[in-house]
Parts: sequence; C-alpha cells; structure tokens
Amino acid sequence: MKVDKQISEYSNIDCLVVVAFEDETSQIENAAWSKTHLSNLLRSPAWKEFGGKRSQIITTYTSENDFYKKVILAGLGKRDKFNRDTWYSVCAKVFNVVKEQGSKNIAIPHPVLKVLFESSHWYLREFLFTGWSVLYELKKYKSQTDEDEHVTLDEIYVLLEDKPTGAIIDVFSYIEDLIEGVGHARELIASPSNDVTPRRFAEEAQKIAQNYDLNFSLITLEEARQKGMGAFVAVAQGSANEGCIVILEYCPKGLENEQPVVFVGKGITFDTGGISLKPSQKMDLMKHDMAGAAAVLGTMEIIGKMKPPRRVVGVMPLAENMPDGKAYRPGDVVRSLSGKTIEVVNTDAEGRLILCDALAYVVENYNPQLIVDIATLTGACIIALGDRVAGIMGNDLKVVSEIQKLAEDVGEKMWPLPLWDFYFDDLKSDIADIKNVGNRSAGTIIGGMFLKQFVPDNVQWVHIDIAGPAWAEKPWFHMPKGATGFGIRTFLEITRKLKF
Ligand code: BES
Ligand code: ZN
Ligand code: ZN
Repeated sequence: MKVDKQISEYSNIDCLVVVAFEDETSQIENAAWSKTHLSNLLRSPAWKEFGGKRSQIITTYTSENDFYKKVILAGLGKRDKFNRDTWYSVCAKVFNVVKEQGSKNIAIPHPVLKVLFESSHWYLREFLFTGWSVLYELKKYKSQTDEDEHVTLDEIYVLLEDKPTGAIIDVFSYIEDLIEGVGHARELIASPSNDVTPRRFAEEAQKIAQNYDLNFSLITLEEARQKGMGAFVAVAQGSANEGCIVILEYCPKGLENEQPVVFVGKGITFDTGGISLKPSQKMDLMKHDMAGAAAVLGTMEIIGKMKPPRRVVGVMPLAENMPDGKAYRPGDVVRSLSGKTIEVVNTDAEGRLILCDALAYVVENYNPQLIVDIATLTGACIIALGDRVAGIMGNDLKVVSEIQKLAEDVGEKMWPLPLWDFYFDDLKSDIADIKNVGNRSAGTIIGGMFLKQFVPDNVQWVHIDIAGPAWAEKPWFHMPKGATGFGIRTFLEITRKLKF
C-alpha cells in the first residue's frame, strides 16, 4: 500500500471519507472547503440521514460530476464522549468497509480534519497508520487462488487545500518509513518457527544492516559460552537450531563517543517451555515469543531510514527453548555473565535468562545512556493488564512515566508496575545467588525484579512486558489480528523525542 502525497488535482478517487461529530454536522457544512468541494454531498438525502452517531457508517453515491465515485460517511459520536481510542475504532471500521467494497483507493480531506480537531496532524497520521495496519495480511504461506484476484486497496490519498506544509510532509515520510519496518517485524513474528529459526532471524538482520548501513555483529553460541554467558547458553543448548546474539548499531558521523540508547529484545523463536513443558493447547502461539527481538529489529530498520541524530544499539538474543537430551533442567545452577549464579527452578522462565546476559553484556560494553528491554515475558501480564496493554517497569520512575506518555501518543498502551525491593525475597535461592522464578504471585513484577539485578542502579533501565499486545487474538484499535509489531512506534518516539 502506498500513501500518496501529490493529490493536488482531485481525480480518480474511488472513495472519499468524511467524518463528523454527532449533532455537529453543521461544522462540516459551514467549512469553506466543503462548500466548494462537497456541495452535492451536502445537499444529498444521505447527508440529511447522517447524524454523526457513533459507529454510524453510510456509503453514498452523489453526482457524476463529482471528483469522487462514492463517499463513506463515518460518525464519531458525541464530542464529549470522544477520545483517541474512538478515532482508532472509527478508522478501523472505515477501512474494513473499504476492503469489503473493494475500493482501489480512498481519500481523506485534511481540511475536514482541521475543522474538527486542533491537532489535525495527529488524526491524519493515525488514520493513515490504521489504514495500512488493519488491512495488513501475511499471504506468504497461502497458495494463490482465484479469490485473491478481487480488488484490494492500494492507495490512500490525502486531500490538501494548498501545497503540503512541513508538518504534512513529516507525517507522510514518518508513515512511509514506519510501515515498512512494522510490516517486516510482523512478518517475522507471524512466520512459523520452522522458518524463523535463530539463524534465519540473524540473516534477516544482516540484510537490513546492509540495506541501511547499520553495523552488524553476531555472537555465536560458542562465543557466548566462552564469554561466560551461562544463562543464555543454558536456554539455547537444548535446540538443534543454534542460538546466537545479534547486535545492530546505528551511529551518525561524529557521535561515536556519545552514550547510546540500547534496545534489547527477547528472541525466543519457539518456546516449548523446555523440560518444564508447556501444555499443548495454544502452544503453537509460542512462535511469537521473539516479538521483542522483532520489535528491536523493526526499530533499527526504521532508524536506518530516518537517520535521527542519536546513537542507537539494538541487541537481540536469539534461541529456541526445547526439551532435549542436551536441554537444561529444573534445578540446574548456571553462572551468568554478570557473575551471579542462577538456580533454574522452571525452564519455562527462559526469557529472563537470555535477557540477563544480554543486559550484562550491554552494561559492560556500551556505556549506555538508557537501556530499554522488550519481551513477551510473562503470561501473568495478560492476567494483570489484559491483552492490549504492556507492563512497564524500571529503575527510574520518571523515565518510566515519560516513556508511557510517548507510547500513549502512538496508540501503544503501557501501564507501570512497581519494583520495590521486598519483591526480591521471592527470588532468594537456597543454593545459588538468585532463582529464576518466585511463587505464583506478582509474576510480571518478579520477572522485572529478576532483570533489575543485572543492571546497576546508576544505569537507567526500563523493562516492557508485551506478552499481551504482541499478538492480537482479534483486531483491536489500530491492530490487525495476529502479529502487531507492538513497541516499535514507542521505540521510535524514545529515539526521536526522549530528553536526557
Ligand atoms: N513466553 C512465555 C510468556 C508468554 C505467555 C508470552 C503467553 C505470551 C503469551 C514465557 O517464557 C513463560 O513461559 N513465562 C512463564 C513464567 C513462569 C514460569 C514464571 C509464564 O508466564 O507462565
Ligand atoms: Zn517460557
Ligand atoms: Zn518465553
């Protein structure tokens, strides 16, 4: 799908989208742009019927002289009940109607958004992203059939009053860069684990590095063993698909000495639970246990294109968690890179084991300004916050809350959880320095608490648990069913906007 910027002449528009608040349709009628361009529509019976009610969608055809073939009227409901989540659901609905109707392109008039909203660029940006996002499908694994021949939406136009301004151009180029990276990440996440093994993931990362001039490096399993990454190696050793750690670095010229922002993503290409085997029901979904690593890779790809003035490193520990003759067992004690020994009580709490070595490696080697890790870490996070919301924790509450705000602005909901010292009591081991699980309570916090032990307090660190929003059982807000790519947009905001 393409977002077209150059629609100065209005022609060949299949479908025009007009939105309005309930009982405020006169706002549209009185706007100068609509008076000139929508006069037929505003006189039509469909417009009279349209009251702007929440969820109301009317498709109408007006005169043949119009510059569009048809119009979709979409109601926003009462203004005082309206919020940004309503916008996402209205947009999603519009695009689903468009898909059903088989339109080739759709157009949204920016002048209408300007009449309705103070921050019209936000509404435009999210309309465009939602359009691309909800229509996203992974077709790679299906054979072509005749059914696939129906018309699909391939262009979204934005109608402007004048030549595009700086802010509009920024929206377009942001969306163009964004959707490619998010699309790539979604494809990796949704692809089955017989395709996306650690090695294959690493190859994709290498391709992206070549395309966008990022520095690529790889720590093999053997190198990880030699370096003393005993926790990572323990998880990886049970699989015939060899694990590895991929590191991508983006460094603008002259910033070689700047402290980088480092993103670390959990990359378990399949999580069987290991010897602490998971039940078979829904185990297939554990192909998405690398969504954290995919979010980091997607972010690095987009950063490679956007070229922001900041040094950024992405670290992706990749492994498959399998039961096997060589697999690690419950009760094993492993020595992590930090020197801390870990008693593995449950081999299904593997994410924190690969992450703790990655975190220690970053602390030792990169002098980071901020580390943000992202992981499908605990099922408990879904119990606590539901499947549309990520848990966010860290060692500096101010940064946690700033990131939460940045995330909200791009439609990614995160909610803070505490990491008070007393929670550590649950992680005390009789035999080693720390256990990898607590008892059943506060599962998500305990996961965060475990990771916290591997980052010194003077290094700013944030942990984001995306066990819920990484995968959508059904579509929500601007997300499609399946892999979402959750986290990428927030990481871009961190890179572009977080002040230190
Ligand atoms: N990958 C899972 C967490 C998960 C569950 C992600 C559901 C997405 C959806 C993780 O490795 C895991 O198995 N965690 C255990 C932790 C427990 C053993 C402390 C869990 O959530 O049960
Ligand atoms: Zn697990
Ligand atoms: Zn896992």
